[in-house]
Parts: sequence; structure tokens; C-alpha cells
Amino acid sequence: MRKNRIILFDKDERTKAISMLLTKGDGIEGIYREADDIRKQNMGDEVYIRGIIEFSSICANDCLYCGIRASNMSVNRYAMNADEILDIARTMESVQQTTVVLQSGETPGINDDEIGAIIRRIKHETNLAVTLSVGNRPYKTYKYWRDCGMDRYLLRFETSDSDLFERLHPDCSLDERLECLYALKKLGIQTGSGFMIGLPGETIDILADNILLCRKLDLDMIGIGPFIPHPDTPLGREKNAYEGDEDMFFKALSVLRIFNPDAHIPATTAFDAVFPGVGRNLALQRGANIFMPNNTPVELRKDYILYPGKPCVDESIEQYARSVLMRIESIGRITGKGHGHSIKRNRDIE
Ligand code: 5AD
Repeated sequence: MRKNRIILFDKDERTKAISMLLTKGDGIEGIYREADDIRKQNMGDEVYIRGIIEFSSICANDCLYCGIRASNMSVNRYAMNADEILDIARTMESVQQTTVVLQSGETPGINDDEIGAIIRRIKHETNLAVTLSVGNRPYKTYKYWRDCGMDRYLLRFETSDSDLFERLHPDCSLDERLECLYALKKLGIQTGSGFMIGLPGETIDILADNILLCRKLDLDMIGIGPFIPHPDTPLGREKNAYEGDEDMFFKALSVLRIFNPDAHIPATTAFDAVFPGVGRNLALQRGANIFMPNNTPVELRKDYILYPGKPCVDESIEQYARSVLMRIESIGRITGKGHGHSIKRNRDIE
């Protein structure tokens, strides 16, 4: 198997091997097919649906690519309260969403105890798994949230190149980000990370190293998606590093699956922003096995635009949720019934 072949190489050779796979112009259909086969063998035909509630657009950080960065004064900052979040969470199981993903900017205007109380209420009042995605936090906060019932955490490392990381993140270093990921893993929290594809300054070798880092971290979930310039950010006039070669987005996804056979990999929203209406379907057919519809109230979605072209900003939560079920069926897949927890086992848990 390809997996075993790569283990034999040293780090540089591994990077080169993946770079070659990514730059192969011919044989691209073969890469997609292999990724789809590996997905089917390891993850089955189920697509688990995890509904996202973007509960606060308040952010203290100034990441150069992100539409809700602190310096973007044109964003209306909101924070939903616990009852508003619970009202949405209670409707999710009826449309086969078995996980709620609570996402916000960093320092979201809701303190750690309030977030803990929301986790407890969701676990008490619904049968949903709970995922949080609210940025870098100390070990003790992750532990506290775990003890409140949090199942999973998403925190992308964005790029494995520490210089590029530092140019893009005035508030944080790659090492600090990785420390957070190690803390989450140590606590036995199912850990998701990932990266953007085609950040300005990214090379094919960096992309290959991003894929290798996902594998090294032995992640439970891996979310990746193309970088899309947001006009109100310092990178607004930059281009995606693979502009004109958008197949690279899917190749990255497929190679990611080939090297991470048993991780949950979502078909992320950014694929639909680049390929409207079909991007996420194609992602599901080229390695992905998770769908994450947007459950943010329609009137707030315009204030949580990380990048332009986010689909379905006007569709109601209900319409969106139902269209997702149809999408999954239309490509011959089935909706996952249980929580869709990580299938990785035997972790050292503190
Ligand atoms: N283009 C694509 N993805 C982006 N994200 C933030 N800004 C952009 C952008 N301009 C992604 C980051 C972040 C996730 C929530 O959204 O990877 O981790």
C-alpha cells in the first residue's frame, strides 16, 4: 500500500514524494479514484452531518486573511446568547444532524464559564455531540470544557511553514498553535486541524508538508479548503497560489485522504465558494466523508463572512438542512446515523 511505501522515506524524501504526486498533471483521475476507494474502505458510505452555529463574530485577533479580523471595522459584531444557541441545537436532530459545531472569533465576548454552561445545556437537553472551534486556549480551559461534556475541538494550523504562519498571524506563532493541539490530544478530546490551500507564498513543498503534518499529528478530523482573498483584509489583492490550476484543491484533498485513511475529512464550504453548487459534492467524491451545513441564523450570516462567496447566505436553516440531505442522496451516499465519533482508538488520556 502507498501508506507503507512512504514510511520508508526520510522527511525530505516524503515531502518530495507528495509534491510529485500533487504536480502530476496526468493520472489525476487515478488519484481521485484511489482517495475515494480509501474513503470507502475506511469510513464507509456514511456522510455525517455536523451543523455549525457561528455564535459570535467578535474577534481579538488580526489574521491577515480573515474577514472578521479585529481591524475590519465594516463587520457588525454580534454574540448570540445561550437560549438562542439552544433553540437551534434542539432542532438539529430532526434533520439528521448529530453534532453541533460552535464556532466564533477568538475572545468571542462570551467567557469560558458561559461557554461551559452552554456545553452542559446542549449535552443535557439534546443527544448531540459537541464540537468547539474558538481558537487558542490554555490547557485548563480545554480541560474544563471537556469536563462540561465537549467531545471535539477544531483548530486549524493553517500552514506548516512557521515563517509564513508568523507573517499571517500577528497574534500567535505556529509553535503556540501546535501546543494547543497537543494539549487537546493529551486530554482525549477528539482533535481536528487542517490548513488553507494556496495561501500567498505557499509552495508545493509547503502544501506537501501541510499534508505530512496532518498525518504526523494523527488527527481525528482534518478540514482543508482553498484560500479565498477577502477584499477588506491585507490579502485582499493577493491571489490564491494555485489560481488557474484549481484542480490542485481537489488533488490536495485526495492526497490528504490517501495519507490519512481513517480521519474524518469534511467537504468544506470553501470548495462551494470556488465551485458553486458542486464543490462540496466533488470533495465528497474525492476523499471527504463529512458535511458541515451552516446553522447560523440567516440575519447574522452577513456578519460572519470569513471569505467572499460563502454559499447559501440567504437560505433558511431548515431549507439548507434539507438540501444537504438531498445532496448526499444525489451522489449515492447515505446520511450517518450515530455521532460519527473518531474511529481512532488507544489514546493516552490525562
Ligand atoms: N479563505 C479561506 N479560508 C479562510 N479561513 C479564514 N479566512 C479564510 C479565507 N480568506 C478559514 C481558516 C479558519 C477557518 C475557520 O476559516 O482556515 O481556520
